Amino acid sequence: MNQFSALLRVPSGRFQIPLSPANMDGESVRPLYFSLVVPTYNEGQNIELLVESLSQLLERALSGNYELIVVDDDSPDLTWKVAQSLTARYPQVRVMRRQSEQGLSTAVIRGWQVARGEVLGAIDGDLQHPPEVLLPLLQAIEQGADLAVASRHVAGGGVSSWSAIRRFLSRGAQLLGLLVLPGVVGRVSDPMSGYFVVRRAAIAQQPLNPLGYKILIEVLGRGRINRVAEVGYIFQERQEGKSKVTWRQYVEYLHHLLRLRFDRGRLGQLKQQLRFPLGRFVRFGLVGFSGVLVDMAVLYLLSDPATLGWGLTRSKIVAAEIAILNNFLWNDLWTFGDIASGQRGVGKRIKRWLKFNLICLAGLCLNVVLLNFLFNVLGLNRYVANLIAIAAVTLWNFWLNLKMSWRVTQVK
Ligand code: GDD
Ligand code: MN
Repeated sequence: MNQFSALLRVPSGRFQIPLSPANMDGESVRPLYFSLVVPTYNEGQNIELLVESLSQLLERALSGNYELIVVDDDSPDLTWKVAQSLTARYPQVRVMRRQSEQGLSTAVIRGWQVARGEVLGAIDGDLQHPPEVLLPLLQAIEQGADLAVASRHVAGGGVSSWSAIRRFLSRGAQLLGLLVLPGVVGRVSDPMSGYFVVRRAAIAQQPLNPLGYKILIEVLGRGRINRVAEVGYIFQERQEGKSKVTWRQYVEYLHHLLRLRFDRGRLGQLKQQLRFPLGRFVRFGLVGFSGVLVDMAVLYLLSDPATLGWGLTRSKIVAAEIAILNNFLWNDLWTFGDIASGQRGVGKRIKRWLKFNLICLAGLCLNVVLLNFLFNVLGLNRYVANLIAIAAVTLWNFWLNLKMSWRVTQVK
């Protein structure tokens, strides 16, 4: 009897799929034709039957040239464990257990990030998406489509038994999508579908920013999708477990639509062209502001006659140093937390702190030079001059730390 295979390592940081399959250390791996990701949360009662029917079907069609990647978000019913136990019987199955991230769309993309297939797919883990529809979907890719979607709203499509409310909400969501993002949502008849296959090349090396349930809209909105094919299917009744859809998914859906609209809009394109990481800059600014408060507090505690009454310069140097340390820690944990988490170890953190310190100290000198130039040469009011100097130095500190201390290459 084969051994269980080990759980997959969970990728971290940005949601971007490599152009050619690679393992977590970036080394290339033996490619396959098809990788199908099954996102699961509490599907312990469904996963075995699903794996069995998918394996039978794909073994016949692709004989070993495929893999099933189960991405489970640490389900309380231990779905990941059930799936892992299946790897002994089904060597094509690989399992990822996520413990620090949640959500259907991000689960699918994390699965695609470790996938070895030239063609990537997503299918629900509760048997509501009939496995046999995979064959016409794959055929459509063979015939040149970049994306093939299983749709409830084309010939041969439908839902077995959905309440009027759920039908209304699903169509309502589609309508909202057509209003906010017609150029994306309007490309397919069932943009809410969670069942589709896509060519890796059409979404690789493209920064993805998924949210909530609607992974297909993310693929359509950010991918290089020319030809789309659709295959009708009947959305089955759920036999075991229950849907995880709550009002929260609808709020996330709206947020997702607006984010895509912004990123695809002129401002978003400008942001992309400028590659100016607005979100990070705002966080950097807030941390900088907290540093000013720390600086002031320490300066008071050390130099004020009512406290220790130290000399101003000595107190200022200590205050500035403590403020820089404060800013470094908050930036390392928050502003650049996603990057720092990929550069683990005390040594690497100290190296980042040293660089941060040097850049900020150089910034301090630049601040004094600029303040004097604006006040003494241009005759500006001292406080206006100081504000301009602080703003300029904040930009200086931000950009240099972005490029040198945390070596950020991705706009966020
Ligand atoms: N990893 C992970 N993390 N999986 C999740 C999570 C999560 O946070 N939430 C749900 N899933 C898994 C479920 O376990 C299931 O396998 C699949 O995602 C779909 O979740 P359901 O909760 O069953 O969704 P639904 O049936 O109501 O809606 C589905 O079908 C609709 C019609 O195609 C989803 O695919 C919708 O996106 C789709 O619109
Ligand atoms: Mn379902």
